[in-house]
Amino acid sequence: MLGARCLLRALRSCSSAPCPRPKPPARLSVRDALRVQSPSGERVTVQGWVRSVRSQKEVLFLHVNDGSSLESLQIVADSNLESRELDFGCSVEIQGQLVKSPYKRQNVELKAEKIEVVGTCDPKDFPLKYKDRPPLEYLRQFPHLRCRTNALGSILRVRSEATAAIHSFFKDNGFVHIHTPIITSNDCEGAGELFQVEPSSKIKVPEENFFDVPAFLTVSGQLHLEVMSGAFTQVFTFGPTFRAENSQSRRHLSEFYMVEAEISFVESLQDIMQVMEGLFKSVTAMVLASCPEDVALCHKFIAPGQKDRLEHMLKNNFLTISYTEAMEILKQASQNFTFTPEWGVDLYTEHEKYLVEHCGNIPVFVINYPLSLKPFYMRDNEDGPQHTVAAVDLLVPGVGELFGGSLREERYHFLEQRLARSGLTEAYQWYLDLRRFGSVPHGGFGMGFERYLQCILGIDNIKDVIPFPRFTHSCIL
Ligand code: 4AD
Ligand code: MG
Repeated sequence: MLGARCLLRALRSCSSAPCPRPKPPARLSVRDALRVQSPSGERVTVQGWVRSVRSQKEVLFLHVNDGSSLESLQIVADSNLESRELDFGCSVEIQGQLVKSPYKRQNVELKAEKIEVVGTCDPKDFPLKYKDRPPLEYLRQFPHLRCRTNALGSILRVRSEATAAIHSFFKDNGFVHIHTPIITSNDCEGAGELFQVEPSSKIKVPEENFFDVPAFLTVSGQLHLEVMSGAFTQVFTFGPTFRAENSQSRRHLSEFYMVEAEISFVESLQDIMQVMEGLFKSVTAMVLASCPEDVALCHKFIAPGQKDRLEHMLKNNFLTISYTEAMEILKQASQNFTFTPEWGVDLYTEHEKYLVEHCGNIPVFVINYPLSLKPFYMRDNEDGPQHTVAAVDLLVPGVGELFGGSLREERYHFLEQRLARSGLTEAYQWYLDLRRFGSVPHGGFGMGFERYLQCILGIDNIKDVIPFPRFTHSCIL
C-alpha cells in the first residue's frame, strides 16, 4: 500500500502541470573527463568514491575515482561546499565545470558547483588507508573492499582488457566462440578432481540423481570443443573451470578461467604451438596498448624488473625441447631437487622453474610426454619403448606451466583401445562416434587465464589476479 506522503506526491505529479526541473549536466566518467584535451568550462556530472580530501583556507581539493582509470580526477571547490560527511572512502556525485588545471600533474580538473555525498564512510573504521600502499596479502583479507585500491583496480582493469583482447584475437583469426557447459557428466582430464553437482534439497527432486547421472562442474571444455570441431574448423571457449585440487599453492585455484581452442585438420604439434605463441604475444601487445598505466603500476610497485622480463619474453621466439631432453637437462643439473627427475615421472614446479631458467627465461614448449602420464585423448606417437604422446606444455618464467595442449587421438581403433584400458568405453561412446563420422586430425590447448595475468604482470600469488578467489578452506562471499 502507498503511504500518505507517497500518495500525495503521486497525485500531485499526475494532476498538475509538470514543474520543470533543471536537468543535471551529462554524466562523464573520470577517464573521459581526463581525456578532454582543451576543457572550456563544459558542465558535467562526475560520480565516484573520494580518494583524498585536502582542505585549505578557502579551497577544498578532492580526488575522485570511479574505476574507469588509475588516475583520479581532481575536484576544486569553494570551501563552503565542504561538509562533515565528505571524507575518504565516501561516495559522491559532483556537478561542475571542466577547466584546464593550473597544476602540472593533470591537464583537467573539475570546478565543483555542487557536491552531494551519496554514501558516507567513516575512515576510522575503513580498513584501507589512502596513503598506504598495503601489500596484496593484507588486501586479501578484504575481498569486499580491496577493489577500491589502486593495485586491485589496475589488476582488474588489465583482466578486463585481456578478456576483450582474447576475444579479439580469436575473432580476428576466424575462430567461432562456443559456450561449453559448466555442468557436465564427463571428467575430461581423468584426474578425478571433480566437484559434484547436486540439488541442495532432496525434497523437491526425490530422484537419486537430478540429472539421472552423476554431474560435475567442468574441469575443461575440451571434449565439447572437440564435438564442435567436427563442424567448425576453428573454435574456442573462455569460461570458468573447476578443480577440487587440495592445494593452496600460489598458482592453483578451485575456480579459474581457462581459454581453450580446438583446430581441425592439423597434423603437427607445431601448428598448435604457433597459435599458442601468437595468442600470448598478440593479447599481451593489445593489453600493453590499451591500459599502459595499469600495467606500469604493477611493474613499478608490485613486481620491479617485470617490464624487462616481459619484453625479453615478447621479443624472443619461444623455444622447444622434448620431454626426454628436459629430463636429461634436469638430470645433469647441479641443483638437488626434492623430486628426483626420472623418465616417466611428471615435471614438478621446481623442475619447470629450473628448465625455464636454463632456457634463458624465454618461454619453452616441452613436447612429447610419456603416454602413461597423460589422459586418454592424446595422440599416440607410436615411438617404441619410450612410448610418448603428442602433448605440449608451455612453461613460462615466474609461473611454470601456462598452457597444456595436444594433438587428439583421431584414429578410431587407437582411441578404442585407450578407452578400453581406462575402463571408459561405455561412457565415451559419443566421443568414439566422432571418430566414425568424418573424423579429422585435430588438436588444441588450454591456457590458465589467471596464470597468464600472473605471468605478464609479475604477480606472485594467483589469488590476487581474480576478483573472488576460491581455494581449499576458502570460499568467502
Ligand atoms: O593442463 P590442463 O589440465 O589442460 C586441460 O585441461 C586441457 N583439457 C586443455 C585443452 O587442451 N583444451 O589445464 C590447462 C591450463 C594449465 O596449463 C594451467 O595454466 C591452468 O589451465 N590450470 C590452472 N590454473 C589455476 N588453477 C588450477 N587449479 C589450474 N589447473 C590448471
Ligand atoms: Mg597440464
